[in-house]
Amino acid sequence: MFWLKTRIIEGKGSIEKLRKEAKEHERVLILASNSMKRHGFLSEAEDYIKEAGAEVFSITGLPAEPSVEAIEEFLPKVREFNPDLLVALGGGSVIDTTKALKVFYDAPELNFEEIAFLDRFSKPKPVPKLKTKLIAIPSTSGAGSEVSAASVLKKGGIKYNIVTPEIAPEVAILDPRLPMTMPREVVRNSGLDVLVHGIEAYSSRVANDFSDAMAIKAIKTVFSNLERSLEGDEEAREKMHYAATMAGIAFLNARLGLCHAMSHKAAWIGPHGLLNAIFLPYVMEFNASKSDYARKRYDEIARELGLKDWRALIEAVRELNERTGVPKLSELVDEETFMARLDEMAEKAYRDGLIAFNPVEAKPEEIKELYLRAFKGE
Ligand SMILES: NC(=O)c1ccc[n+]([C@@H]2O[C@H](COP(=O)([O-])OP(=O)(O)OC[C@H]3O[C@@H](n4cnc5c(N)ncnc54)[C@H](OP(=O)(O)O)[C@@H]3O)[C@@H](O)[C@H]2O)c1
Ligand SMILES: [Fe+2]
Repeated sequence: MFWLKTRIIEGKGSIEKLRKEAKEHERVLILASNSMKRHGFLSEAEDYIKEAGAEVFSITGLPAEPSVEAIEEFLPKVREFNPDLLVALGGGSVIDTTKALKVFYDAPELNFEEIAFLDRFSKPKPVPKLKTKLIAIPSTSGAGSEVSAASVLKKGGIKYNIVTPEIAPEVAILDPRLPMTMPREVVRNSGLDVLVHGIEAYSSRVANDFSDAMAIKAIKTVFSNLERSLEGDEEAREKMHYAATMAGIAFLNARLGLCHAMSHKAAWIGPHGLLNAIFLPYVMEFNASKSDYARKRYDEIARELGLKDWRALIEAVRELNERTGVPKLSELVDEETFMARLDEMAEKAYRDGLIAFNPVEAKPEEIKELYLRAFKGE
């Protein structure tokens, strides 16, 4: 099966479509991060909603890399305003926060622990039908949350997913003017997340021809545009913006793998895209060493990129990390702190639901070894 719930509106200035989208709504709540206010996109969005005749209220200051506490903080404000339309204006963090707020606003009887995928060996409670419509307007080019069915939240520094079609946004507006204001590091970190989404979705055990098409296009776009986007090339940045959503459509269907399992459990160390970028070559080497299927899929990606084989692909991934200035893991966390949480991370990554889609079912000891190799920069 291949599915996509979200209607996608794209193009320069397309945020203006909020006017039409807000028409049949009375109370519209915008959730935004500070940069969206700073760069004027929040007031622009508010104006379109007012022009539609709806009442608008905005909550700003949504945090990056959100934790469950952020939901507890903002939920009372959402309930107080009582919206019939939610608009998430920001990066993956803002969209994920808004998705979770939608769950607990629409279904107040639920709590995070019972609906989140805490452990792949136990099933969470299903999320019932949710009524409030959600429009996602991404300001980064990375997470793919504007089309995905997941909301990723930290608890105790470790990330867990809520996954249900109910939280996949009804509409995504991809206005390439928004990501133009991203700082360089956000361009890089979110852009490398697109690469990881593409590669993990393509080599997933449940990939199909339709998800492959989205994954390959996204991977190629990263290799040919990310560095130009980092230099400020507007066309390249626009291409990356659409590629992020394509990769999102790929993993919505084919899911992800060990690299995301590892980065989610190491979330206390740094930003999501950056951790993924650091772990990716280690995970690819591991998968290739254990699985014919992984080697075959990496070979296919390599050929699409004009490279010889899976070895050349892993090398190209490493080189891209180097050229874009991805630091070593040991530059983000000191050895003592890292070692103190290593066993916990490896065990929890092994229990992450995404392991089931990875070409190889890695054991806790193997995951520990991968964390260690990444830390030592081997
Ligand atoms: N749901 C999913 O399927 C999925 C998939 C992958 C990743 N994720 C999650 O997504 C999160 C990462 O999202 P992200 O990579 O998109 O980054 P992000 O965490 O949403 O944004 C990072 C920072 O970039 C700044 N920023 C964003 N857009 C900007 C713009 N246009 N101009 C200037 N500054 C801007 C924000 O600063 P301000 O705070 O100052 O605005 C923010 O602090 C992680 O929590 C990850 O777990 C979710
Ligand atoms: Fe990701």
